[in-house]
Amino acid sequence: MTLPDPTDGLPDPSETPRREFLKAAVALGGAAGLSACLEAPRAGSGADGGAEADGTDGGASDLADVPTGDPAALPDRQHAWNDALPTDEDGNVRPPRHHVLRYAGLAVDPTDDKEREAARETLREALSALERAFAWSNEGLLFTVGYASAYFDRFDASLPASVDLPAPTALTDMEDPAFDEAPLLAHLASDAPAALLSADEALFGEATTVRSGERAESVPDLSGVLDPVDRRTGFVGAGLPREHRGVSGLPEDAPIPEGAPLMMGFRNGFRASQATEDRVTIAEGPFSGATTQHVAALRLQLNAWWRQESHAQRVAKLFSPVHAAEERVGDWGEKLGADPAVADLPEDAVAYARESGVVGHAQKAARAREDGAPLLLRRDFDTTDGDHAGVHFLTNQRRIEEFVRVRAAMTGADIADETAVGSRVNNGILQYVFVRRRGNYLLPPRRHRALPTPTPE
Ligand code: HEM
Repeated sequence: MTLPDPTDGLPDPSETPRREFLKAAVALGGAAGLSACLEAPRAGSGADGGAEADGTDGGASDLADVPTGDPAALPDRQHAWNDALPTDEDGNVRPPRHHVLRYAGLAVDPTDDKEREAARETLREALSALERAFAWSNEGLLFTVGYASAYFDRFDASLPASVDLPAPTALTDMEDPAFDEAPLLAHLASDAPAALLSADEALFGEATTVRSGERAESVPDLSGVLDPVDRRTGFVGAGLPREHRGVSGLPEDAPIPEGAPLMMGFRNGFRASQATEDRVTIAEGPFSGATTQHVAALRLQLNAWWRQESHAQRVAKLFSPVHAAEERVGDWGEKLGADPAVADLPEDAVAYARESGVVGHAQKAARAREDGAPLLLRRDFDTTDGDHAGVHFLTNQRRIEEFVRVRAAMTGADIADETAVGSRVNNGILQYVFVRRRGNYLLPPRRHRALPTPTPE
């Protein structure tokens, strides 16, 4: 076996835990990342004997172990992921561990009927080939294809009133983000780095075949359709954030619990705090079955979070001071079950912050619930893109305007205006999170996911 040259940008596989090596391969991507992944030492060899502290080996790296799929059995909603994902012991959906975001321009003019029809056929065939090759699950591949308002603006017709898709804007006084306006964004996710990278290579690289199990599927050449412009990567899951300690923004000695899926040291995505897939789905009009997606690139600066705050202060700022005082959370959220119970706190968050001097992030964000139900389905993941700690904060909601409202509740400018809580300091986690980029997308239902017009037939 030829092991990759460590100077490729990958760590030496013989000295690196297998899970960490696979994560580096996903970040590298391309044919080099894929072959590194396929050749990574299996259990019983390598720096750690292959096994990891959480009992996983980092997911199937051999494509022969990846289950195949059946496009005909798939739901019409591209964002129908929850039924395809495992749940933890408390019934919370467990997201895929590895993620790639691919931003692409178009090599065709989608407003030209002939060009669009030909490009659609190619794109449809490529996406179906992926669905045949990989099961629609965390063990295979989950993906969505979304379109920015800049894409729909090229057409004479407008989107129907049932779709709320404004161009991205700055959402707080504290940010000056760049805007992602590439017309197409694909989000690929899997526990199996090899499946993820081979799908990525087939859509955006040079691979012409995807393989899994016994099956080989040919994928048409998309270079005449898509023009990739940016690639971002990330990960979420127990054990993974610890492996990135030492990157800028995340100190080497950060005592992140092994069970924590996120760099800030807690779990998120509790069932009761997530919108359901139904709640985020556009119910009417030609895009019924669609959802909108907001993707923000956030930079984390966690030196003070890990070195100056106590565990109780971290709990107060992420959940609420009540959670800290009553020790509701445990080391990393394991005591919370499926409901962090942030909505049953005193309703007047301003009065509450006046008394305690601190307001919690989740407590603030929960103020935007409607009839007790959250509006956002958060599918965010951590990243070390640019060699800096960060989050790709990805959410689905029915209307982008709902994201804007929830984000205002999370910012809590009203609380800062009226209490001793600062605009950043003691105001949830705002002191640690910096918005770099924003983008808004429509994820059409599967039937319209290949280069839709604003008025699909
Ligand atoms: C570094 C970034 C972030 C981290 C580590 C983080 C972490 C968390 C955690 C641990 C919770 C507790 C409940 C749960 O997840 O189920 C939560 C809730 C929540 N967060 Fe964040 N969050 C981050 C950024 C954001 C941003 C940018 C928004 C934008 C709107 C946001 C909106 C929410 C909402 C809506 C809830 C649920 C509130 C409810 O229960 O209704 N979060 N977050």
